[in-house]
Amino acid sequence: TMRFVLDCDTGSDDAIAILAGVGHPGLEPAAVTTVNGNVALEHVTDNTLRALDLAGAGVPVYAGAARPLIRPDLPIPRDVLNKDSAFQQHGLGLPEAVSAVREGHAVPFLVDFFMDAANADATLVATGPLTNIALALALEPRLAERIPRLVLMGGAHGNGNVTAAAEFNFWADPEAAEAVLSTGLPEVVIVPLDATHSAPLTGPDCDELEQLGTPAAAAAAALIRHRLEHDQASPSHEPSTPVHDPMCLAYLVRPDLFTATVRAHVSVETAGARTLGQLLVDTRPWRPEPANATVALQASGTVYRAFLREALGS
Ligand code: BDR
Ligand code: CA
Repeated sequence: TMRFVLDCDTGSDDAIAILAGVGHPGLEPAAVTTVNGNVALEHVTDNTLRALDLAGAGVPVYAGAARPLIRPDLPIPRDVLNKDSAFQQHGLGLPEAVSAVREGHAVPFLVDFFMDAANADATLVATGPLTNIALALALEPRLAERIPRLVLMGGAHGNGNVTAAAEFNFWADPEAAEAVLSTGLPEVVIVPLDATHSAPLTGPDCDELEQLGTPAAAAAAALIRHRLEHDQASPSHEPSTPVHDPMCLAYLVRPDLFTATVRAHVSVETAGARTLGQLLVDTRPWRPEPANATVALQASGTVYRAFLREALGS
């Protein structure tokens, strides 16, 4: 099985990632760390505990950064940004948590975990702003060689979702994203909007999940239905919604998930007036810097659905 630590800002799609990451027979969550993002940290942590309890996992949870690395808070208040903030601030419709967050901060936890040679096989999966990971790398620079693989949801090669240029996770803490990507970790896989938008889910997909008959599948279906109701209509006017974060976990057990990828030098804009948080994917053969990431450009909906069924049906 594939061991991983999930750093997340739960969030309805992060919650589905948790349910899938606990449920999939090929995945083994070692710990979950939380970060300010979709909602304020206390709500992120509460949502995370709710999702883990529903999945029946005794996975330790450590709360992390409550603010971006440098900026006082998100550039736009969340309730302006997100029509759905009340739902996310009140537990995502999941039952109340019974388990509690661990003592101690997520950042030293991440340092200790990955400095421990016994965890040299674990993947770090990030589905929120990269604040905790940037802080951990600052606290312990040797971590750069000790995190064997980072798989993250963030950025967009095409249009962003918060602005034309920027995707939410990178926009919410651009300095953290740039700090992490410029560190040069041994293996970085970026799952940007290009990939997540290429395999959106639909109402009939929710019907199929419900037929699996497990609490995790029912909860995931309800969360996807909620997203379907709140998302802007897709350009095709098909009622479908991208479910971003679980794709990172799907990739761990189904490396055939991505049907197009590119090796590139990636960086994040931290100064642009209109482009703050933009992911720059430099694929020029004559670029000055070597490739530092693999960027997923397209995903297979068939593989993604098969992963979700396997993860949520057991
Ligand atoms: C990302 O932003 C968050 O709202 C989602 O949870 C996902 O991680 C998509 O841009
Ligand atoms: Ca997220």
